Amino acid sequence: MNHEKARLFRQYRAYRFMDAIGYKTFVSVLCITIYACLAARTQDAKAGTGHVAWQRISINEGWRFYKYDSMEKADSLIYDVRPEVRDRRDDRPADSRPQQAENVESARIVLKPWILPTGNEFIQNPAKRHVRPEGSPGCDFPFVQGDFDDSSWNRVNLPHDWAIKGPFTGWDGEVGGGMGRLPSPGVAWYRKKIDIPESAKEKSIFLDVDGAMSYAMVWLNGSLVGGWPFGYASWRLDLTPYVVPGRENQLAIRLDNPPESSRWYPGGGIYRNVWLAMAGPIHVGQWGVFVTTHHVSSESAGIIVEVTIDNDSGDYAAVTAVTRIFSLDMHGNKTGDAAAVITSPEAVIAGGGKAKTKGSVTIRNPALWGPPPTQTPNRYAAVTTLWQNDKPVDQHETRFGIRRLRFEPDSGIFINGELIKLKGVNLHHDLGALGTAFHTRAAERQLEILREMGCNAIRTAHNPPAPELLELTDRMGFLVMDEAFDVWERRKTPLDFHLIFPDWHEQDLRAFVRRDRNHPSVIMWSFGNEVGEQYTGEAGAALASRLHDIITEEDTTRPATSAMNWAKPDMPFPAVIDVISLNYQGEGIRQAPEFEGTSRIRTKPQYDAFHEAFPDKIILSSETASAFSSRGIYLFPVTQKISDIVRDGRGGDSRIRHVSAYELHAVDFGSSADKVFRSIAQHPFAAGEFVWTGWDYIGEPTPYYECRSSYCGIIDLAGFKKDRFYLYQSHWRPELPMAHILPHWNWPDRVGEITPVHVFTSGDEAELFLNGQSLGRKKKKQYEYRLRWDDVEYRPGELRVVAYRNGAKWAEDIVQTTKKPARLEVSADRSEIFADGNDLAFITVRVTDRNGLAVPTANIPVAFDIEGPGEIVATDNGDPNSFVPFPSHQRDTFSGLALVIIRSFPGNSGRITMTAVSPGLGEAKAVIHSRGPDCR
Ligand code: GAL
Repeated sequence: MNHEKARLFRQYRAYRFMDAIGYKTFVSVLCITIYACLAARTQDAKAGTGHVAWQRISINEGWRFYKYDSMEKADSLIYDVRPEVRDRRDDRPADSRPQQAENVESARIVLKPWILPTGNEFIQNPAKRHVRPEGSPGCDFPFVQGDFDDSSWNRVNLPHDWAIKGPFTGWDGEVGGGMGRLPSPGVAWYRKKIDIPESAKEKSIFLDVDGAMSYAMVWLNGSLVGGWPFGYASWRLDLTPYVVPGRENQLAIRLDNPPESSRWYPGGGIYRNVWLAMAGPIHVGQWGVFVTTHHVSSESAGIIVEVTIDNDSGDYAAVTAVTRIFSLDMHGNKTGDAAAVITSPEAVIAGGGKAKTKGSVTIRNPALWGPPPTQTPNRYAAVTTLWQNDKPVDQHETRFGIRRLRFEPDSGIFINGELIKLKGVNLHHDLGALGTAFHTRAAERQLEILREMGCNAIRTAHNPPAPELLELTDRMGFLVMDEAFDVWERRKTPLDFHLIFPDWHEQDLRAFVRRDRNHPSVIMWSFGNEVGEQYTGEAGAALASRLHDIITEEDTTRPATSAMNWAKPDMPFPAVIDVISLNYQGEGIRQAPEFEGTSRIRTKPQYDAFHEAFPDKIILSSETASAFSSRGIYLFPVTQKISDIVRDGRGGDSRIRHVSAYELHAVDFGSSADKVFRSIAQHPFAAGEFVWTGWDYIGEPTPYYECRSSYCGIIDLAGFKKDRFYLYQSHWRPELPMAHILPHWNWPDRVGEITPVHVFTSGDEAELFLNGQSLGRKKKKQYEYRLRWDDVEYRPGELRVVAYRNGAKWAEDIVQTTKKPARLEVSADRSEIFADGNDLAFITVRVTDRNGLAVPTANIPVAFDIEGPGEIVATDNGDPNSFVPFPSHQRDTFSGLALVIIRSFPGNSGRITMTAVSPGLGEAKAVIHSRGPDCR
């Protein structure tokens, strides 16, 4: 097409567009587009911070906190009455059949009717929205008053987990092992005075809470504003009617964490970020920009931007949304000029109403988002400006990625045309010794260690994660199964989510999808895990179908599923979900003869049956393994099987409460990693797996419920790698030359005894040497993932393995018998941190012998001290048996290691020196430089 022709064609298209939308609108859209393009350069600098932009102010600092000593002593401002807890059994196996819902009736006045309207925005059918009753319960309660003296309350900054400091409640304590033996249940208050400037008079003002555990109820200046019961939800309250601009406003938040409400450690408190958001009366709605892409290739991509505009003014408003698209660099900063501008047709919105407007554009040569190592997680930002009467009135930034997802039932998930098998793990929301208080660096460290193992996917078991976790997975290129619920109507623990499900499932599900749907890392939704409704035939499937529909009403670009540990191909449940998401069923459950006749779930391997029954759906394993081990603890005899259960003398020892790190044992319904690898390889149509779990987590310490934390992590609670890490690495990173020997070689009591040696390697063959003498060269057979020398007689000295690939030397590993503990050694994950009062350094303390070899059996007391502008926040050693409170500055090493977590002081740069000292071993110092914010 020559230039003149192209000009005429453009003119023709413009006239057609004008015809469609009317002359006046066309002219204003044109003016705004020209203005936007011209202004783009100058506004780039302002984007996100300019005067029209949303102001989102962190109000994490300077809260006062008070928790009642006991539930009995708490005030009576309850959200709703709860059933009496009749069943306190703590160690119920994870795959127990869930119970019926409790129906609770009460004549008491509860605050629920005032809280329910908070969720109205997420109830589709206007007739079902809640009307706030008259009055403001709790308004005369002292804690909500501005003049209440809270100076004796604790000062805390958010995110805050009130339970993590402990103390652990002990073996017969109130809180069982399932919930981690930490005091997460209870009722507590948070108070803060917030300054609202006079200039905010004309603004709409919101409180944005990313997560509060749980049953939050909020008062401002003595008036009950609203709340949100689900502890994993992110939610917003409109403070505008209650705010008094130009003075301090008193915010008071009451939380109530029921006992027996979770199968794992839920934490307690306002454990995620909290924001004050301010905008003009015409503004982008909550999570109001939805960016989708279509016809994606490396040459071009279509981008559709749908904007929901709220008009909080009393008058009609005609508003246009102009969205500029920018590339982001790897740190999330906008680069260069806008790559495209999308002007959406004018929306006319009644006062107090809302409207949607949608526009699209095609961009050339998009930088696609995809998972490393073969692809790059490129991202974009959509900067949306709202225009009213030719003036910008609001601006909002939304990050997104451009990628093409294809789900092939015979092979798996294609991203930008490349088949990517899921090498995934499940993650709970706690961050070990830091508890559930979200911390971006701690989560990033989790992901970094998983990445080193070759992991490329995360399932957010079993609830919505912190928003920042998805920012990390976007940036780092992990694939995410974003999961909403563990429970629907049928309960797993007496006071869990089933109590609020009937009133809140729609709001929780819509809020969850709207919050997360722009994240390129989220590739599918999960709206349930092993729910009891699998057992209720058509009724359960009907509920699943309703939940599925809610998700697809909010997002049609991703499939939605619910994980099944029981439902079979001929049951109604799997028919109503998009993805066959199996927990343990792929490998089969309790197939060993000893389980014959058991009333527990027994299932033959199910991949083929599901694939046959649902040839149009992809199949994956949302949970595999649940294999157990204690880092560095090896128990004998070693099973000859590739996968076995845990019993005393069979991989476990209930006296010391440890499971053998030969990595061959799993929960009764699970399988070892080796067995899972085999079954996935034998079913090439399977899209991959999410291992239960990547990291150990607090609570659910199966098989020893007397303890505090899990055994199923590939990485322990402190972040130290178990041997299993190398088994996964050998399989998931086949191109990385590596070999790993187990066990350690310090067995003074086993001289002459059979002490099997196993090797994990990405090679295909290996030769093992003991003190220079070959113990034979072995080759992996098909579906074998470890090399085993099961008849080695222990003699102290050196084990050396040389691994080969295709006959050529590939990798080597050495394990030596060490001398006795002689020294401490310390090493930090980073030598520089930011002096922002938030950044962390993770320091590993290692016991070594006099030659500097790590002593793998050393369980030795160490004390920690710190000098300089930083503090010790927590310590750990990864032992599920340890009841030493996490903030303790003294701790035994476990299998030779301990962890110290250090936090910088705000605005105070300098050298932080952490000293570890142990009797007879002297001291070791780690130096961390805390740098001012200007070095960011
Ligand atoms: C699964 C369950 C997980 C966890 C796991 C422990 O059945 O979905 O949440 O409990 O068992 O093995």
